[in-house]
Amino acid sequence: MKNIVIFASGTGSNAENIIKYFKNNSLIQVGLIVCNKSNAGVLSIAQNFNIPFLIVDKPALEQLANDWKNEKIDLIVLAGFLWQIPDSLIKAFPNKILNIHPSLLPKYGGKGMYGAKVHEAVISNHEKESGITIHYVNEHYDEGEIILQKSCIVNLNETAESLSAKIHFLEFEFLPLTIEKLLQ
Ligand code: GRF
Repeated sequence: MKNIVIFASGTGSNAENIIKYFKNNSLIQVGLIVCNKSNAGVLSIAQNFNIPFLIVDKPALEQLANDWKNEKIDLIVLAGFLWQIPDSLIKAFPNKILNIHPSLLPKYGGKGMYGAKVHEAVISNHEKESGITIHYVNEHYDEGEIILQKSCIVNLNETAESLSAKIHFLEFEFLPLTIEKLLQ
């Protein structure tokens, strides 16, 4: 059984989508959700689907590489996780940590570029397209090797909300597929 760990800080709609996608898969499972906020929506999702979860503070996050020395973890997926991943974890899981970013990196990436801020910046710069980037995580925010990008049109009357909905649509389609491909 291939084991996925999802890290999320917020609503967790991507986490939910990934859990549902692999729910009846006998080869791949979501084994754990890691979250840094005790009131995050993703924790109710973990409970609803009976997925174990772990709430971490920064020292606990630093400890994970050590705690997981004997665990079989095949892929770590950052789905809206807002803290930087410690180097110890990146070293312990080379090319096994993915992030999904809601823009076409390298545009609109980096520290402070998350959620609605990304979409607002895209719209105020009159970009004609935006999209998603699935990439490996290295020591620098949003700079690891790109695995997949998919784009969507930004309309003249686009709002951060409408753009976010388009982006989520792309994420829901392509994130589980990419995970599956990487684990096969
Ligand atoms: C997604 O848009 C993802 O690209 C970004 O954070 C958002 C998480 O949304 N990294 P959700 O919590 O999965 O709804």
